[in-house]
Amino acid sequence: MNTSKKQLNNQLILAPMEGVVDPLMRELLTSLNNFDLCVIEFIRIIDALLPERVFYRIAPELNNDGYTASKTPIRLQLLGQHPQWMAENAVRAIELGSHGVDINFGCPAKAVNKSKGGAVLLKTPEEIFKIVSCVKQAVGKEVITSVKIRLGFDDANLLDEIVDAIVSANADLLTIHARTKRHGYKPPAYWEYIGDIQKKYDIELVANGEIWSKNDASRCKKITSTSNLMLGRGILALPNLANVIKHEAEPMSWAEATRLLLHYSQLELQGDKSYYFSSRLKQWLRYLKLQYPEAEILFEKIKTLKNKNDILNIIGINNTN
Ligand SMILES: Cc1cc2nc3c(=O)[nH]c(=O)nc-3n(C[C@H](O)[C@H](O)[C@H](O)COP(=O)(O)O)c2cc1C
Repeated sequence: MNTSKKQLNNQLILAPMEGVVDPLMRELLTSLNNFDLCVIEFIRIIDALLPERVFYRIAPELNNDGYTASKTPIRLQLLGQHPQWMAENAVRAIELGSHGVDINFGCPAKAVNKSKGGAVLLKTPEEIFKIVSCVKQAVGKEVITSVKIRLGFDDANLLDEIVDAIVSANADLLTIHARTKRHGYKPPAYWEYIGDIQKKYDIELVANGEIWSKNDASRCKKITSTSNLMLGRGILALPNLANVIKHEAEPMSWAEATRLLLHYSQLELQGDKSYYFSSRLKQWLRYLKLQYPEAEILFEKIKTLKNKNDILNIIGINNTN
């Protein structure tokens, strides 16, 4: 009998990206790609049980049984340092329909780290143990408790202790962004560390960091001996990357990407945050530039424009509002 806890295979997970992958972007990307799960940007937990409206605001998919419109499950992510408050909020997230709960120990933001949340906890594996075990006990055996880490804070010296703490706390799944906090988002990602963890620990792993193409995905799987991947900036640069990896789809052409941009613009303008339209569009073009030279040209044309009608004229939508 196989008693290993490792049972997932070829899962593709959409990464949480605060301020970038919002509900609209999730809807778009999960309608285009066959993702297995979306982990949602973190909810900061300090010393309170947050009201339900906070959960619904960050994840309106909770109104749809915790699924995007195209039926991809979503999982809320909590970031905090107080085990009991993390546990209480985790229970609330589950009650509201989150498919499991994810705990963030990777956030590099100074403000968050200063108040003892996110990546700074990688310096104290014993705190990680307390948080994860308290959350796991509160949500129960049947609910997936996943954890997202970096390799460490300044270096990877504590990685074994960190993973040990997470495994001992009975977490079900561990996503490793293969860089330290000090590395920030600078390439490369050090996938070989994940391969090492895979050999040593009996916990389901998800590899994350610097997957921009099918070739990267194949190399990452090989080096990490992990078939489960989380895609972040890569899917914003190539919007059908998950299907390119999973279903051998052709990478989306610029003509298709333009249609998608138009569709996104229309949806963004219908939303209650259409005020942010021009900055959101420019933000996405910055990622698309990495894949499509044409996106660079378009970006150059609109980068100084603030008026949304001027931008819409250039990208080809006549807005009558
Ligand atoms: C703008 C931005 C926001 C992010 N927000 C979160 C977050 O809320 N929670 C989290 O665990 N990781 C967050 N991340 C990290 C990503 O989930 C991912 O781990 C990282 O981008 C590496 O993957 P990639 O190389 O595929 O982008 C964020 C990254 C970026 C660039």
